[in-house]
Amino acid sequence: MTDAVQRHDPSVRGFASDNYAGVHPEILEAIALANGGHQPAYGDDVYTEHLREVFGRHFGPQAEPYPVFNGTGANVVGLQAMTERWESVICAETAHIHVDECGAPEKVAGLKLLTVPTPDGKLTPELIETQAWGWGDQHRAQPRVVSITQSTELGTLYTPEEIRAIVACTRAHGMSLHMDGSRLANAAATLGVPLGALTEGVDVLSYGGTKNGLIFGEAVVVLNPAAVRGVMYLRKAAMQLASKMRFTAVQFEALLSGDLWLRNASHANAMARRLADAVGGSVRISRPVQANAVFAILPREVAERLQKDFRFYTWNEGTGEVRWMTSFDTTAEDVDAFAAAIVAETGGSGR
Ligand SMILES: Cc1ncc(COP(=O)(O)O)c(C=O)c1O
Repeated sequence: MTDAVQRHDPSVRGFASDNYAGVHPEILEAIALANGGHQPAYGDDVYTEHLREVFGRHFGPQAEPYPVFNGTGANVVGLQAMTERWESVICAETAHIHVDECGAPEKVAGLKLLTVPTPDGKLTPELIETQAWGWGDQHRAQPRVVSITQSTELGTLYTPEEIRAIVACTRAHGMSLHMDGSRLANAAATLGVPLGALTEGVDVLSYGGTKNGLIFGEAVVVLNPAAVRGVMYLRKAAMQLASKMRFTAVQFEALLSGDLWLRNASHANAMARRLADAVGGSVRISRPVQANAVFAILPREVAERLQKDFRFYTWNEGTGEVRWMTSFDTTAEDVDAFAAAIVAETGGSGR
């Protein structure tokens, strides 16, 4: 028996982030399976060896997965492997790499980010063109990589056609494409397509496991080996090489070998849809609901009152935009109770 004490109420869930959720029981089971005995460290274990096959089934036999601890690490290692010291990365102004990584791409990878304002968190060829210039100019950090997020930080997603257009634009300029797929599973679930259908033409993918039900674990997935150099060394240098890697690897095996990734993502998405449908008559939903996030505009005092009972983030203090996020373990009852509180607080007149 453990001496640890349970210090939280496991029946309480909020809408702050899919990172607030616990771990899917099948993942915990898999970790227990990988426990016991000794296995070589730093990825030379039998679970990590099997990962290539696991990822290959989704992304093709050429896919090389490099497990890391977190999404920031995956982005930093992947982007660094794709660029030289004088090169730069074009991304949306709202990209996680720009606003939520404490400057790690700049500090750790030494990268210049060329940001683009977007209406919905999505780049388009036209928007990429606004930064895709200046090659040969010694004064400009040379655009080398385009980075897109799927699904985006604003809960929107790219269709396969939109990605194809970005691939064509990127290639036409001799650049490479990186995808922050922290929530790729949610996008694939909504679109009803295999994960690999959203990465055709992508050179390097940061594949997200944590928000999809793992304890922790993301992977730099190299889809085009010609687009990178030294991933293995950069991962270690960026402090993202786990010694007991078997426990990261076995989580990915449990997530991706069957349909757990899809079950978890579909459920999270369905809960976001349910929430948006339940409150859409009472508040203004401010972004298309396409994955597991709902954005809405609320008067500040209403948001503050609701936040006393339900955790969620105010996304933009200026506009009163809030973000409600669902996860694999959000229940229909959680959503209905929250929706009822929102409707009651706004008196059905928040639109
Ligand atoms: C779009 C996106 N990318 C990457 C990450 C991964 O970040 P972390 O380093 O917290 O795992 C997140 C986490 O919120 C995210 O939303």
